[in-house]
Amino acid sequence: MSWKHSHLLGLRTLDKEDLARILDKAAYLHSLYPDELPETTLQKKTLVHLFFEPSTRTRVSFDLAIKSLGASSIQINMETSSVKKGESLYDTVKNLEAMGVHGFIVRHRHGGVAEFISKHVGIPVINAGDGFNEHPTQGLLDIFTMLQHTDTLAGKKVLILGDIAHSRVARSNIWGLTKLGAEVFVCGPPTLMPSGIEQLGVKIAPSLDKIIPELDFINVLRVQYERQEVQCIPSIREYRAFFCLTQERLKSAKKDLVILHPGPINRGIEMDSDVVDGPHNVILDQVQNGIITRMAVLSLLLGKKS
Ligand code: CP
Repeated sequence: MSWKHSHLLGLRTLDKEDLARILDKAAYLHSLYPDELPETTLQKKTLVHLFFEPSTRTRVSFDLAIKSLGASSIQINMETSSVKKGESLYDTVKNLEAMGVHGFIVRHRHGGVAEFISKHVGIPVINAGDGFNEHPTQGLLDIFTMLQHTDTLAGKKVLILGDIAHSRVARSNIWGLTKLGAEVFVCGPPTLMPSGIEQLGVKIAPSLDKIIPELDFINVLRVQYERQEVQCIPSIREYRAFFCLTQERLKSAKKDLVILHPGPINRGIEMDSDVVDGPHNVILDQVQNGIITRMAVLSLLLGKKS
């Protein structure tokens, strides 16, 4: 099965076989992690981080993945680069490409920016989050983490909880999980539920309390205040009352329910602290799996083709 994509822009455009290829590669790398990882797969390659939005997990884990594969990276600081002088995105990437770099890792507040860049350069572009659109490597690491708790996602019930409207993580999870046969539900305040979301193959769960006992996985989303042009929830107290994961709510959950969160977490709003640090949670596994899955993506896009 050969890898046929030049970029990773989203999970929407990958098929089930592509997902399996990345997840198999990640599983292989996980079996070698950390001491026996290959250090020469991307020797002499240089990746450029183009982060127009803040990041801790994605940027650092991409960087660790790049270094673990023997490549090097350059961080462009948007505050001190010529973007600050008004240089266009097109000119920025064309100039960087002319210097001989081998790939771009792009985060931007507008959907479609990674795709735009991919149309104008001849090197791989990886979307590290674009607006509300997609965050494909987060979707992959979430799925990889779920698969550490089940042999298959087919027929498993997964709830994506919270601010669906502003979440690129929700969309990448939905594209990936539905392709792998999971039954995907979404739940959140009506003001944060995009109309027509069911067309992506998910069901809206009207009540968190009613659906919790059925679930195998819950992926809890961050309330993204920075993306809300108007305040979309009447009050934090009300959000907490209906949508916060608390120990009380989890009393009806399956014993082996697995709870994920992409981070960063608003403790006490999306999830209580004792749930964040409790037995159902795999948040730090997700973070570690981020390195492995990003290594898998980088080696498929930039490594020797097999
Ligand atoms: N999950 C995630 O994208 O986190 P960062 O914003 O810290 O990269």
